[in-house]
Amino acid sequence: MNLGIKSRIIASYVGLLIVFIAVTVLLAEDFISAYTAMAIAAVSTVIMFYLMLIRLIKPLEEITHTAYEMAGGILEREIMVQADDEIDELATSINFMARQLRRNMVMIGEERNRAKAVLDSMADGVIALDSESRVIMLNPALEKKFKIDRGSSIGKKLIEVIRNYELDQLLRQVLKSKEPQCREIKVLMPNPAVLKVHVTPLKAGDSNSSGVVALLRDITERRQLEKMRADFVANVSHELRTPLTSINGFLETLLDGAMDDKETARRFLGIVKKETDRLSKLVDDLLKLSKLENNKTILEKQPVNMAKIIGQVTEMFTAQAEAKDIEITTKVPENVPPVMGEKDLLIQVLVNLVDNAIKYTPEKGKVTITAEAEQQAVKVSVRDTGTGIPQESLPRVFERFYRVDKARSREVGGTGLGLAIVKHVIELHDGEIEVESSPGGTVFTFKLPLGQGCCAC
Ligand SMILES: Nc1ncnc2c1ncn2[C@@H]1O[C@H](COP(=O)(O)OP(=O)(O)O)[C@@H](O)[C@H]1O
Ligand SMILES: [Mg+2]
Repeated sequence: MNLGIKSRIIASYVGLLIVFIAVTVLLAEDFISAYTAMAIAAVSTVIMFYLMLIRLIKPLEEITHTAYEMAGGILEREIMVQADDEIDELATSINFMARQLRRNMVMIGEERNRAKAVLDSMADGVIALDSESRVIMLNPALEKKFKIDRGSSIGKKLIEVIRNYELDQLLRQVLKSKEPQCREIKVLMPNPAVLKVHVTPLKAGDSNSSGVVALLRDITERRQLEKMRADFVANVSHELRTPLTSINGFLETLLDGAMDDKETARRFLGIVKKETDRLSKLVDDLLKLSKLENNKTILEKQPVNMAKIIGQVTEMFTAQAEAKDIEITTKVPENVPPVMGEKDLLIQVLVNLVDNAIKYTPEKGKVTITAEAEQQAVKVSVRDTGTGIPQESLPRVFERFYRVDKARSREVGGTGLGLAIVKHVIELHDGEIEVESSPGGTVFTFKLPLGQGCCAC
């Protein structure tokens, strides 16, 4: 029967009392001497103390010690008490509490790891600030974007970590107003970029400890693409308007009476014809370019014999070259292996390069086309003895509508799209193209990889 702690203590005292009474009686009847009485009393007291120590004090000490350890975070130990009273119940409930705490800690740890994994794998930058505008958290994407170190940034003011006044002001505003905000900001350091920043107040239970969290998305590329698209539309409109205005002007003059003079009429109609040819070439080039830029373009590759297509293109330009007394020479060794590519597109590349070489070379000049086998590639060069391209223009000649001398290009029927088409085709074939130029001439060189299975053909 479990009588509890109180009954044990009472029983001990009653036991001691009985012993003392018995000793007193035995002493009064002279059955024992005073020394024996004292010895019996002392031994019974020690026994009682020992029993109290074992059954009460020791277990309580053990429980207190373990409870202290739990408070310090050590939850693995369990209290080992064997008793069948309240002390045992106390030990069991503390052990149960420790197990429960252990489970909760594991759950909190897992939750924290999951949140960390999400933040670490995000492509957008995330930064959190406390109410004093001090950094409390930032993710690796933000570290990389601003080239900062997470460890040394925590606890610092935002402006000390990211030196951007606009960003600092935006986060401070949200800290003050406690209203979410979204804004586009430009940063110059470490690299110029446009960021879309979403800032949300952090609402903690205790209003003093609230802060803000900001999500920074890099939209530089999107903005550049939008600008390129807008520039392209503006360029196309301009390119279309110029010949149309000219056609319109000449037709109006013809209608106003110039038609009566046969010679003038013929000359004007000749100009109108030239302008319409240019318009249709422009539309043609635009269509080609848009087809090439369409990401879905899948090349119908086949083994292409470069020697053969160089021969074909040279023939196509014989008349044009003769008209300017330009000599076209080809140097293509027999052993040039075929490349894997789309034949019509590769012909287009050579046509555009040879066309430029002839157009921008004065009379009696020379155009040389060479091809040679390189390691896993074929290198083709188109060299001329023409006007050359100024050094500052070299990086831009592959841009759409870029022309060194606009008037000259227009005069010879250029659209400004030839080299853009060339570059696209070469890139679609995983090749490379480069240009070198001096006042004595220009050389365009492209390399095309041989591709798998090409050499068997
Ligand atoms: N072989 C060359 N020699 C000199 N300038 C060249 C040559 N090839 C291209 N260019 C320059 O590059 C510009 C862009 O060439 P391209 O894209 O073919 O347009 P275009 O229709 O004007 O020929 C030309 O307008 C010209 O100024
Ligand atoms: Mg051209």
